[in-house]
Amino acid sequence: MTRISILGSTGSIGRSTLSVAESYPERFQIVALAAGANLETAFEQARRWRPQMLSIASESDADILRARLKQAGISGIEVVHGTRGTVSVATHPQSDFVVSAIVGVAGLEATYEAVRAGKTVGIANKECLVAAGELITAEARRQGKPLLPIDSEHNAVHQCLRGGRMEEVERVWLTASGGPFLNTPRSEFKNITVEQALNHPTWKMGKRITIDSATLMNKGFEVIEACRLFHVAPSKVQVLVHPQSTIHSMVEFVDGSILAQFSVTDMRLPILYALTYPERIQSDMRFDVGNLRHLDFQQPDMNKFPCLRLAYEAAEAGGTKTVVLNAADEVAVAAFLEGAIRFNEIPGIIEEALAASNSGMLRSIAEVLEADGAARRYAQKRIREKSKKSAEPRATSVG
Ligand SMILES: NC(=O)c1ccc[n+]([C@@H]2O[C@H](COP(=O)([O-])OP(=O)(O)OC[C@H]3O[C@@H](n4cnc5c(N)ncnc54)[C@H](OP(=O)(O)O)[C@@H]3O)[C@@H](O)[C@H]2O)c1
Repeated sequence: MTRISILGSTGSIGRSTLSVAESYPERFQIVALAAGANLETAFEQARRWRPQMLSIASESDADILRARLKQAGISGIEVVHGTRGTVSVATHPQSDFVVSAIVGVAGLEATYEAVRAGKTVGIANKECLVAAGELITAEARRQGKPLLPIDSEHNAVHQCLRGGRMEEVERVWLTASGGPFLNTPRSEFKNITVEQALNHPTWKMGKRITIDSATLMNKGFEVIEACRLFHVAPSKVQVLVHPQSTIHSMVEFVDGSILAQFSVTDMRLPILYALTYPERIQSDMRFDVGNLRHLDFQQPDMNKFPCLRLAYEAAEAGGTKTVVLNAADEVAVAAFLEGAIRFNEIPGIIEEALAASNSGMLRSIAEVLEADGAARRYAQKRIREKSKKSAEPRATSVG
C-alpha cells in the first residue's frame, strides 16, 4: 500500500491523482491533502477520502472547514492552514509518497521539506524546479530518494532513460504542442484574448500552465526542469514542436538510437507511472496505434515566442536568473488574466526583470524566496507603470 500526501489536491493534477487512487483502492491510501482557496472541493475531498490531515491556504477558511466537518459529523481530520499547513501535509509521518502539484512558488517550501523528510516525491510543480531545482535535486540525492517527474514530457524522458545510461545520452528532445497560437501571425498577438489563450488544443490544465503553454514559456520551464532532473546541459535539451502531442518526448543516445514514449494524452498515466515506479501496472488507458496516420514535427520559432529564448538564456545562467524568470512570468501571466496587460507584453515584462536582476548562485530556499520576492515586486512595478502609461491620453501631434 502506498500512502500518499497531495499538495494541490483541488487542482487539475491533484484531482487526476485522486482519480488514479480511486481506480486502485487496494494499492493507494490518501493520508493528507493540501488545497489553496477552493473550500467547497476541499470539503468534498475530505468527506470522500477522510484524510488524516487537510490544509487550506487561509486561517479563516480553516475555521470554516473545521465547523463544516463537525456539522457533517466527520471527525479525525486535523485541519491546518498556510505554508506551515502545506509543509505539515508534505512531511506527514504516515505518508511515504508526496505528489507536488501546487501551482507556482507557493508549493516550494512544502516540496523541499518533503524531499528533506525522505519522502519519494512525484513532481508536477515545475516552477519549484525552475526556481530551486538545484537545491531540490541535491537534497533528493542526499536522501537517496527518487524525484519522479509527473510532467508528461519529463515522465516520457524518465521512461526513455531506462533504455540506456546517462553517459550514453546525446540529446533530450522535448516535444511541444505549439499551443493555440502556433499558426497565428505574430502581428495578431496583441489582440489575443484571455479566452483564446486559455483554449489549449490538446491538454486541459490549470490557468497558469495554459497561458504558459500559449507563450511557450511552459516549454522553456520544461527545458530547465529537464536540465535539473536529468543533470544535462541546456544545449543538450532541444524542443521540437509536435502539434499532435502523441510523442511525449524522446531521448537520443550516442549510437544514434532514439527512444520515444507515446500514449494517450491523459495525465493519469504519468501519475500512475510515478506512483507505481519502478513497477508498471495494468491500466485501461490505451492508445490506438492502428489509427495513427501521421506525426508532424517542426522547429520552434523563438522570434515569435521569445519566452522560449529567455528560458534558454536563464537556463545557461542558472541561479538567480531562473528564479526571476519564473517570478516575473507568474506576475505577468496574472496581469494578463486580469486584463492589465496584453498577451504580447508578457515576454517584455520578463525580459526587463531578467535584465534588472543580478546573477549568482542561491544557497538556500530562503535566498530563493528572497530573489523571488524582489523579482515579483519589480515586475509588478513595471506593469503598474505600463498600465498608467496606456491609461494616459495619447499625445496628439500639432501640425
Ligand atoms: N495540469 C496539467 O496537466 C499539468 C501538466 C504538467 C505539469 N503541471 C504542473 O502541475 C502544477 C499544478 O498544475 P494544475 O494544472 O493542476 O494547476 P491548478 O489546476 O491551477 O491547481 C493548482 C493547485 O494549487 C493549489 N494552490 C494554489 N495556491 C496555493 C497555496 N498558496 N497554498 C496551497 N495550495 C495552493 C490550488 O488550490 P485551490 O484550487 O484550492 O486554490 C490547486 O489545488 C503546476 O506547477 C503545473 O505547471 C500540470
